[in-house]
Amino acid sequence: MSRNILITGGAGFIGSHVVRLFVTKYPDYRIVNLDKLTYAGNLANLKDIEQAENYSFERCDICDYEQVLAIFRKYRIDGVIHLAAESHVDRSIKDPFTFARTNVMGTLSLLQAARVCWDGDWAGKLFYHISTDEVYGALQFDGTLFTETTKYDPHSPYSASKASSDHFVRAFHDTYGMPTLVTNCSNNYGPYQFPEKLIPLFINNIRHGKPLPVYGRGENVRDWLYVVDHARAIDTIFHRGKVGDTYNIGGFNEWRNIDLIRVVIRTVDRLLGRSEGASEHLITYVTDRAGHDLRYAIDSRKLKDELGWEPSLQFEEGIEKTVRWYLDNQEWMDNITSGEYKKYLQIVGQPRPVVRGDCDFSFGSSLFVLAVLRGYVLPPPLGEKAGPDFCCGCGASFCRTVAVRTAVVLQGILSECFSAFLSRRCFEAAVRHAVRCRQASPTPRRSAARRSS
Ligand code: NAD
Ligand code: DAU
Repeated sequence: MSRNILITGGAGFIGSHVVRLFVTKYPDYRIVNLDKLTYAGNLANLKDIEQAENYSFERCDICDYEQVLAIFRKYRIDGVIHLAAESHVDRSIKDPFTFARTNVMGTLSLLQAARVCWDGDWAGKLFYHISTDEVYGALQFDGTLFTETTKYDPHSPYSASKASSDHFVRAFHDTYGMPTLVTNCSNNYGPYQFPEKLIPLFINNIRHGKPLPVYGRGENVRDWLYVVDHARAIDTIFHRGKVGDTYNIGGFNEWRNIDLIRVVIRTVDRLLGRSEGASEHLITYVTDRAGHDLRYAIDSRKLKDELGWEPSLQFEEGIEKTVRWYLDNQEWMDNITSGEYKKYLQIVGQPRPVVRGDCDFSFGSSLFVLAVLRGYVLPPPLGEKAGPDFCCGCGASFCRTVAVRTAVVLQGILSECFSAFLSRRCFEAAVRHAVRCRQASPTPRRSAARRSS
């Protein structure tokens, strides 16, 4: 074998694509996949290449320094592509310790094993660390992009742990002269992604008619890259990147979450033979992620200018391929979502729906429709001249009686329907609730005046 390459996290989402690419493209390289097989690691992701002669798998925790060192020695590892990590932001908010342990201490353990094994003989060696654009923090809606010189400003425990591991990698380069490379990539999508992440989660939920939990207002922006293009970039940089350097990898493909979600909905609906957009009613606005970064966008011009890499797929094509893959591989999805993941969902609980003014109707409109359906006679808006039903007769443009009676009407509606508002999408839930109540016991038309008296 001309090279012995250790790929960590090769049973995960991106790692499995990198392993597949290297095993098939470089038959004269030995590819050793080191993975602990956490909930996110799945050897089924590599079924098609697991019998390849140049492929080996080692189940190992990167934090287990002795075992990592033994693997380095066993295979005479000369190159590392390090992807193993805890990768989900929401989990890091619940359990930051695990992220610090794996992402920081695990990376340090690998660096130290490489240093001890290579023992100052750096010729032909490379430690390539896969990082994320999240270490740069968040951008405003101002068209700026993360470049390789953007100051680190991580906000979540996940990104803080990744930032820390990046610093350790650079420290090993600067202190010991270890040949290292770091790349920071934007959001990946494609086959084999664990369905806790936005795109596979939503594809699966749309298929099964389950709610689509949109954090906050769905206005956050991410820059999406097809995973196979990330793997191609890693191949290019591993072989031709400038040692000691950093490259950003991104798709120049920014999407507001809610717009992306609508594309996914239309694609799934169409491929399932439903009318496009039929599943939009599943959109459920839920409590926002704590510290939710507003916008990520990567400037990957350096990678294009220096090494000639560009994304190969247009987003529409990538999303179509992705949706098709998940729909055709329901068994893969079922296997993943049955065991550990179910337990995790029970522990963290489901996100809580919130009443939002940005569903089909505003909160105000919902109240209005609800009030009419429930048979209330509404007072005119404050400031408008009130009719005899509501005005005390003062004739003033701001009638105190109108104000008080408006409040009473609102209070009545709110207390009747509060639980329906809270537990479902505001407009639809309110209307459904009102219709049900009306069918159960037709309400005589009543005015605020009569009701309050
Ligand atoms: P993933 O969660 O799908 O896979 C992570 C893999 O690492 C799994 O196979 C898991 O078993 C393994 N692993 C976890 N802890 C381990 C440990 N202690 N020892 C050994 N193996 C362990 O992650 P992913 O989305 O494929 O991300 C891979 C890498 O790319 C991560 O470093 C992540 O930070 C980075 N990254 C991801 C994205 C993205 O959009 N997914 C974007 C940029 C960078
Ligand atoms: O930017 C690169 C990063 O991209 C990687 O480093 C991370 O490993 C990877 O998980 C991803 O992080 P995000 O937090 O951006 O990905 P996620 O799929 O979790 O969320 C994408 C966006 O969608 C984000 O703004 C949060 C939102 N979201 C996510 C989920 C899971 C929702 O609105 N609802 C959801 O249920």
